[in-house]
Amino acid sequence: MENPESQSVNHLDWIQHELDLISNAGLKRFRRSLNFCPDGSIIYRKKKLVNFASSDYLAFSKHPYVIRSAYKALNSFGAGAGASPLVSGYTRLHRSLEREIAQWEGFDDALVFSSGFGANLGVISALVHPKDLILCDSLNHASIIDGCRLSRATLRFYKHKDCDHLQNLLLRDRGKFRKLWILSDSLFSMDGDYAPIETLYQITLKNDAMLILDEAHATGVTGEDSRGFTDTFPLDLDWKNRVIKLGTLSKALASQGGFVCADRKIIALIKNKARSYIFSTALSPVCVAAARAAIKLIIKDNSRRVLVDSLAAYLRSNLLDMGLDIGPSQSHIIPIIFGNAEKTMRISKALLEQGYLVPPIRPPSVPENSSRLRVSITAFHSYDLINGFLLKLKEVLSRF
Ligand SMILES: Cc1ncc(COP(=O)(O)O)c(C=O)c1O
Repeated sequence: MENPESQSVNHLDWIQHELDLISNAGLKRFRRSLNFCPDGSIIYRKKKLVNFASSDYLAFSKHPYVIRSAYKALNSFGAGAGASPLVSGYTRLHRSLEREIAQWEGFDDALVFSSGFGANLGVISALVHPKDLILCDSLNHASIIDGCRLSRATLRFYKHKDCDHLQNLLLRDRGKFRKLWILSDSLFSMDGDYAPIETLYQITLKNDAMLILDEAHATGVTGEDSRGFTDTFPLDLDWKNRVIKLGTLSKALASQGGFVCADRKIIALIKNKARSYIFSTALSPVCVAAARAAIKLIIKDNSRRVLVDSLAAYLRSNLLDMGLDIGPSQSHIIPIIFGNAEKTMRISKALLEQGYLVPPIRPPSVPENSSRLRVSITAFHSYDLINGFLLKLKEVLSRF
């Protein structure tokens, strides 16, 4: 008779096989367990590091007003929401946050999800029908792509930011489908470049389509009023019926969760159909309070956004002067592209030894031969700190 123990080991062999494949391709993922410091730096293996890998762009996670507000909510409401929003997890804090987001963004209404990823999955699969056509930028975030797949609509990718390619796909296929949806990040997270929003909107209008924009990396850090694309949008009457804006509370808003802004009827349909909303516990009141506080701070004072903008412009211009390839970056997200994955890993490791956490990004997160370091600028940084980084980077690169 076979030993039951050896049977159970064999039963999991396929998992080891998959792990080996990932490892052998040099794509094994790992996590660092870090300590966060009040000045935005981090401690890793007892060493203090400058953090260039955070999306806490406005450094609000450590702001006394944000912390006090979260603490107050913790005392009044407790740590968790305890149920989905449609059961008993929805509080007056949640409603206030939704009203404040809608008003800030200039939309009729908003809905808050317990993550940005969940918002994208829920919104897209609730609104888009299997008989629809989706045209999706090829560099959109994974949560958008997964939302598209969940919808079971026909999904076509247009070349990154290429509106001619988008129009060609549209002309070829438009007549065969119920509705047309155009989906794009507004600020792309791997290259730090902006979508051609004005042109996407004109194509949307001309073709009786809907435009879904994901503003995860732009909210709080882009535009005169720090709202993202909303600040630059043509204020014609039609746009609120045509545009759906997705965002996250987890980056510049220093909390956790996601949101969608749209016309009131669209929000009502999402509330009734989005499975990641209906079947998931509501966002913790603590996160709700932190996000409300961050929005209030952004509306009151744009100095942190202005600082992030100018630090990013300074770093981009110095990297270009050093002859480095920063791709099409126009923002606080700055890739330094080396191409070769192994070389990129080694440079990242050398910078870590010098006190800088700059994450290496490799395929499949980016196309083959475009491995890069990705620098994210936040309001924790300063000109002195960036000058120090540039010196160390020169020193490290001279060894390669
Ligand atoms: C463009 C984009 N959309 C959505 C998300 C998901 O947001 P969250 O982290 O709140 O789940 C991310 C996260 O990195 C993102 O970069």
